[in-house]
Formats: sequence, structure tokens, C-alpha cells
Amino acid sequence: MTSADSALPIILDCDPGHDDAVAILLAVASEKIDLKAVTTCFGNCSIDDATRNALQILTLAGEHDVPVAKGAAGPLVQELELGNYVHGESGLDGPAMPAPAFALDERDAVTLMKDVLEASATPVTMVITGPMTNLAQLFRNHPAVTPRIREVIFMGGSTERGNHTPSAEFNTFADPEALQEVIDSGVALRMVGLNLTHQALAVPDVVERMRAMDHVVGQTSAEWMGFFGNSYNQVWSFEAPPVHDPCTIAALINPDLITWQRTFLAVELEGKWSRGETITDLHNRFGNEPNADVAIGLDRDAYWDLVLNAIDSLGQKNS
Ligand code: RIB
Ligand code: CA
Repeated sequence: MTSADSALPIILDCDPGHDDAVAILLAVASEKIDLKAVTTCFGNCSIDDATRNALQILTLAGEHDVPVAKGAAGPLVQELELGNYVHGESGLDGPAMPAPAFALDERDAVTLMKDVLEASATPVTMVITGPMTNLAQLFRNHPAVTPRIREVIFMGGSTERGNHTPSAEFNTFADPEALQEVIDSGVALRMVGLNLTHQALAVPDVVERMRAMDHVVGQTSAEWMGFFGNSYNQVWSFEAPPVHDPCTIAALINPDLITWQRTFLAVELEGKWSRGETITDLHNRFGNEPNADVAIGLDRDAYWDLVLNAIDSLGQKNS
């Protein structure tokens, strides 16, 4: 998808993952997004599976010109924990996927991030939909690129309860030290947590609209929702799966979709039971300077119209 001059340059760092997959489709489809690179991280599955999945998803989308680079295989400090219990053995279980139509970039994720940031005429938005490990490593290895980042918008954390543990959402649980280092960098930060993404449920009407699309992108998306929904029902008794990651891309495409609150954000590193929990001081009880904007409300109808139109436009373009 060629990008108009006004399109927003982004790098999408992800751990595909069913919902990451829909985020990739949305980013590719939107004329308002200039997807400069996709970088992969461990998380929903191993780094090798996440990387293969990213290549396959872009192939499905008909997008062969966005560089994909492989990132971290594990977190900065703690033991590796993966999310295959939700996303299946491949990390993208359910429908068969096309073989990758293009090769992985020979650079690693952090080098590709640096190169894209240095080459961009305007500051780049970093979209993180998995653990923050690659971004933290970028700040460690190439601190000079920080001013070239417009903002970091990430799916992770929650203003309420967690999912992977009672208090910690999976992405922030998977590498809390990485999130801490990103917070410490002082970069402009927006958090799209579970409190927001649990408003983005792929209810039966949404899946039926995917199923009614007469092309492989729509059918594949519906099957992703089927597998993802089954996992969410078995693990957390959800009637429909929250499609977390596209909320970040949707917020960039249509700023009116989500309401935000500026607040003080911290991540718990010490708690025996709460490591990885995000602390959002919405009532300023600590009196600390705010350091992030956290997502609060979602216009769910507009969100799903945006996502479904994107899936349908890609499917029709590639039919
Ligand atoms: O907790 C949900 C998040 O963890 C999503 O980004 C999902 O893809 C997994 O990475
Ligand atoms: Ca993800």
C-alpha cells in the first residue's frame, strides 16, 4: 500500500499472535498509516514462530515491501514465559496461512528500528503490541535516536486487573524491566490497556461480518477469531475475544475513537504476586508528575467499522 505524504510513519513491533495479526492488516490497509517496518518479539509464541507468522500475515495482506526483522527471543531479566496457551502451538493456530512471499530482513529488529528512525524525514511512531524488550534494547544501544520518535503507543497493562496473572497483563508481565526502561526514557507514552481492549470484543455480529466477506482475508480473520475466542472462553470464560492490538493502530487512524486520561504510570517490579502490574494513579494519590496517557473509553462501533472495512478492502484488493 503506497503512503500519501500525510500518512503517519510507524514501526509496528509485535508478537503475532491473532490480535497482532489484525493490527498488521489494519496498518497495511490504512492510507493514513505509512508502515515503515514490522519487528518481532517473543511473547504469544517463540520469536521464530512470531517472525514466521509476521511474514505470513503480510503475505496474506498482499504487502511484500515492508521489511520484517527478527527481535528478542526473551526478556531482559526474568525467565521466559510464552502465551501459546492462548494463541496455540504456532502462535497463530486456526486457518492455514500462505507461505511467506518474501524474505526476512537480514538486520535484527533493533538495527532495523534504528535505520528507519535515522532515515525518516519526520519523527516515527513506535507501536508496540508485545513485550517492550526490543524498544528497551533500542534505547540501550542507540539512545541518540530517541528524539526521532514521535511517541510510543503500546498495548499492555491495565488500569484494572490483569490477565496473565490476576494483576498483570501479559505484555507488561512478559518483560516488566523493559517497560520500566521505556518509562524512564521520558519518551511520549500512550498505554492501551485491558480496561480499554476489553471493550473491543469480537462479538458474533463482528465475526459474521468477517465470514460474509467473499475473500480469503475475511475468511482467515473469521477463523482467527474462532480460535482466539475459544481460547478466551476456556481460559477466562469470555463469551467473545477482546481484540486488543488493533486498538493502537485504530487510535492513530482516528483519534476520536478513544478517550484518554493523563496520569502517573508505573510498573511493579518487586511484588511477589504482582510483578508486571501497571499502576495508573488516576486519582493522583501519589502526587507524582503524570508521565503517560492511558486509554479509557472506546467507540466500539466505529472501531469495528474501521477494522472490518480494512479487512474487506485488503481482501478485495488481493482477490
Ligand atoms: O494481553 C494481551 C496482549 O498480550 C496482546 O497484545 C496479545 O497479542 C498478547 O501479546
Ligand atoms: Ca500482541
